[in-house]
Amino acid sequence: MAGRIPQAFIDELLTRVDIVDVIDTRVPLKKAGREYKACCPFHNEKTPSFTVSQVKQFYHCFGCGAHGTAISFLMEYEHMEFPEAVEDLAHLAGLEVPHESGSDTTSASTNQPLYDLLEAAAEFYQQQLRTHPHSNRAVDYLKARGLSGEVAARFCIGFAPPGWDNLIKALGKDKATHARLLETGLVIERSDGSGVYDRFRDRIQFPIHDRRGRTVGFGGRVLGDDSPKYLNSPESPVFHKGRELYGLFEARKAVRKLDRILVVEGYMDVVALAQYEINYAVATLGTATTPDHLEHLYRTVPEVVFCFDGDRAGRAAAWRALENALPVLSDGREARFLFLPEGEDPDTLVRKIGKQAFEQRISGAVPLSDFLFDQLASQLDMNSIDGRARLVDQARPLLARLPDSIFRQMMIEQLAEIAHTDPVRLSQRLEPVHESRLPADSPPAAPARPGKSAVREAIALLLYQPALAGAVEELPQAQDSVPGLALLSELLELLQRRPGLNTGAILEHWRGRDEARHLNKLAHWKPLAENLDLAAELGGLLEQIAQQATARRIDQLLDNEHQRPLDDDEKQELKNLLLARGPGP
Ligand code: UTP
Ligand code: MN
Repeated sequence: MAGRIPQAFIDELLTRVDIVDVIDTRVPLKKAGREYKACCPFHNEKTPSFTVSQVKQFYHCFGCGAHGTAISFLMEYEHMEFPEAVEDLAHLAGLEVPHESGSDTTSASTNQPLYDLLEAAAEFYQQQLRTHPHSNRAVDYLKARGLSGEVAARFCIGFAPPGWDNLIKALGKDKATHARLLETGLVIERSDGSGVYDRFRDRIQFPIHDRRGRTVGFGGRVLGDDSPKYLNSPESPVFHKGRELYGLFEARKAVRKLDRILVVEGYMDVVALAQYEINYAVATLGTATTPDHLEHLYRTVPEVVFCFDGDRAGRAAAWRALENALPVLSDGREARFLFLPEGEDPDTLVRKIGKQAFEQRISGAVPLSDFLFDQLASQLDMNSIDGRARLVDQARPLLARLPDSIFRQMMIEQLAEIAHTDPVRLSQRLEPVHESRLPADSPPAAPARPGKSAVREAIALLLYQPALAGAVEELPQAQDSVPGLALLSELLELLQRRPGLNTGAILEHWRGRDEARHLNKLAHWKPLAENLDLAAELGGLLEQIAQQATARRIDQLLDNEHQRPLDDDEKQELKNLLLARGPGP
């Protein structure tokens, strides 16, 4: 197992790669003055408020408050884990990631053998579908379900042959591979400890790809009516069911510019729709849609259509999807619901009615607002005041989960109309329960000054121009009397010890710590004018801070003196402080 990645390597990495390149290949940037701009990939907008600073190696969105370094960007945008993002950037810069020995943090490099193994397994299953003596049963089954060879190949569908040890025999000859087969759940240990056996036997294999196209797990379907109908790979270091979506990689590959995604329930549904050239369906892996899934989907497309059975269970599942979707529905994001006739799923329906009629249904899917209010109203008597009051009561917590947006406002207006009440008063009544969805620390648009306190201003200046630290001779003493002073001292100390760090690299030193919030908030500050003497500015601020610290400490000591006599050290300190402060008010 690889250990922690040394901070010095992160420093070096972030001076070697350019955040502009990293982002530009994913979100095309336009140069605007000294910075680069684009429409923010983390929320929907029409005019660009996402800015990338090459000098600072830092991005910041004035619209939604998203911000961070090249590493953060990959973590947010590509859903990578920290070590994976570092690995990716290192690869770009042609560097090898070193690891400190000891701890056991997993990283992309430690997982690579797992990805390789899963890929080899996928190839094995595909090959078995062509060559195994019993493969005709599998091929016949797929044909009977109407699957074309072309779509089966596109989804890399395979066949796990009957028998207990086909995969083990094919792949697991050495000890290390054997261990990895267990880690990915492709083989299972016998309960009596007498050995292992293949998890997937006599099943149609659907490989599950992550968004970068790597095989991370499998779903396997029985050829007949046995139970369980589907077996899925268990969670593993590379496979997280709450995060992956079956078919998303294939959809992104098939459609150059996706503008909507259909969420269906089954693997077979995704594949059947793709065969009918509805190439934008994805399925969860036998679980409900998680907020993580949704965030992921809305970063890809502005519109998500959930497809469910029209029966009770389908409606219940749709309601859960609705609840999870509310918090991520910022302006420009749309959710709709498509209910299918009883007894049909997308697979059977598209085969019956074809692409065009199916897409017409998608276009006619129920907007989230209608589904929400209709569903609530269906259980109430809307002709009575009582019923309408209860509708408001039940809708209240749901609307409160929406981000503050025009959409939310319109939902309130619609509720007011249905409940026959005044929208303005309703809106006021809804406000108190409303929780803002923007991060609590999201900064206001482009502040002229980073904040009132001198400490905050000094930190902002240093993050803007780290080289200023070189000229600071005396560090303010880290006294807890002035809030933030300890952080400022730590920052100064780092900058003097490691001159040449850019803002992004500095921020990485605080990753995972509470203070990171404050630093990130100040990192996008810039001075109003270009020609200010920032060194003098910083000097002035530090002086001011030192005075504050002195004054507060004097107050403290004097306070103490009221309660008990000061000891000798304290007396001496007070004397020195009073001297240092000099005459004055
Ligand atoms: P369905 O039973 O609707 O599957 O379950 P399906 O895709 O329509 O399958 P066919 O048409 O009968 O072949 C929907 C999804 O629920 C999960 C699978 O992800 C499946 O695609 N599931 C279902 C399981 O994980 N295990 C099961 O036993 C059944
Ligand atoms: Mn089905």
